[in-house]
Amino acid sequence: MDKLQVFGQADLKGSIDIPGAKNAVLPIMACSILSNQCLHLTNVPNLVDIKTMQKLLESFGITFHVHKNSMSLIPTNISNHVADYDLVRKMRASILVLGPLLSRFRKVKISLPGGCSIGTRPIDLHLFGLEQLGASFIIEDGYVVGSVKDKLKGNTIELPTVSVGATENIIMAAILAEGRTKIVNVAREPEIQDLVNCLNKMGAKISGAGTSIIEIEGVSKLIEAKHSIISDRIVAGTYIIAAIMLNKDFIVRNINPEYLKTPIKILMEMGANLDIGDNYIKIMPSQLIKGTKIETEPYPGFPTDLQAQMMALMSISDGISEIKENIFENRFLHVPELNRLGTDIIVKNDTAFINGNRIFKGAQVMASDLRASVSLVLVGLCAEGFTTINRVYHLDRGYENIEETLGNCGPKIVRLK
Ligand code: UD1
Repeated sequence: MDKLQVFGQADLKGSIDIPGAKNAVLPIMACSILSNQCLHLTNVPNLVDIKTMQKLLESFGITFHVHKNSMSLIPTNISNHVADYDLVRKMRASILVLGPLLSRFRKVKISLPGGCSIGTRPIDLHLFGLEQLGASFIIEDGYVVGSVKDKLKGNTIELPTVSVGATENIIMAAILAEGRTKIVNVAREPEIQDLVNCLNKMGAKISGAGTSIIEIEGVSKLIEAKHSIISDRIVAGTYIIAAIMLNKDFIVRNINPEYLKTPIKILMEMGANLDIGDNYIKIMPSQLIKGTKIETEPYPGFPTDLQAQMMALMSISDGISEIKENIFENRFLHVPELNRLGTDIIVKNDTAFINGNRIFKGAQVMASDLRASVSLVLVGLCAEGFTTINRVYHLDRGYENIEETLGNCGPKIVRLK
């Protein structure tokens, strides 16, 4: 299994262009199941999770043409509606094929995504929403088996909790349903807005994306469409935090700063020196970064996917900081590993207390999940000596070739096979 060796006290200069958002491409790829016409995507990032979704969709009969960051999905020959354990276990987001398969084929069998290092992550909300549209489910031999008697029928669905994946699955299922669907208390993430924009280009009739109520007028079929994926706000936020931690002049390009409104506000209150452009953020050195208190929330609140990176920054900030994790119950697995590098973080229930002004020293560490891995890279870049990060495959799920991307801007990161 690959390891990364991160050389500390790194330099950082120039700029980085942010690639397309993983969490936008995954549902958009899944929505091609709804159509029998081609879907052409550009600004697709080169990530392991995207390849996993491709393999899953190929297993249903979708053909792919991939060239650099462009991808065409040709769904003319879908013949299978069973998502196998071996593919689903690799990536929880595989559950995003549930709604589209059910909607188009009235039956689906998908391996339960199972446990996950950042919590139990159930799928009850996905099933609840689809049941409101007329589907029934049984759990059999570790698989969710779904069926629809006649056709999915539009309905009003009130979600008890905000869920990104459940919102996406219900939207996709409602596209070909009969009549009108209203989904209340939906997630408002930019990635959902991107999915809706793409679906509307494909001929769907969806309104309200970005608000807490989405309405869908069912259509009978979809058409060929082209769509360019929005850029990845979490990757952008990660590199902004890296530049603040290294206290360097740096530019993060090809982003929509609006999507990072809350993190930017918090970083500026902490003392970060940021110049916010139309599609870039310039980071300049600052005198002092002060600790603060934050909590993770659904969009537009502070994203849980930037929590670990923020914790790394807080460890070199002045004073004591606090992070309350409201989205996932087990998302502090990076804390013991960060502490091996010299951070001083104590977790009590859902809150982490972070002592600032720390000096980091390189060590051997283990990555537990995607965002946890990148927080280890951030601390490793600031540490004395070098840090070896094991189980780096987590990182490859969400960050395109990080050793080269960062390496082009100064830091030395070596991949050990
Ligand atoms: C998505 C993102 C992930 C991000 C998360 C929260 C993708 C591919 N992944 O994950 O990067 O960290 O949003 O912003 O887009 N829940 C239930 N029942 C359900 C579904 C969810 O109780 O059926 C709970 C979860 O356990 C969690 C909360 O709802 O506590 C939010 O999870 P959700 O928004 O669904 O996250 P994902 O869509 O899995």
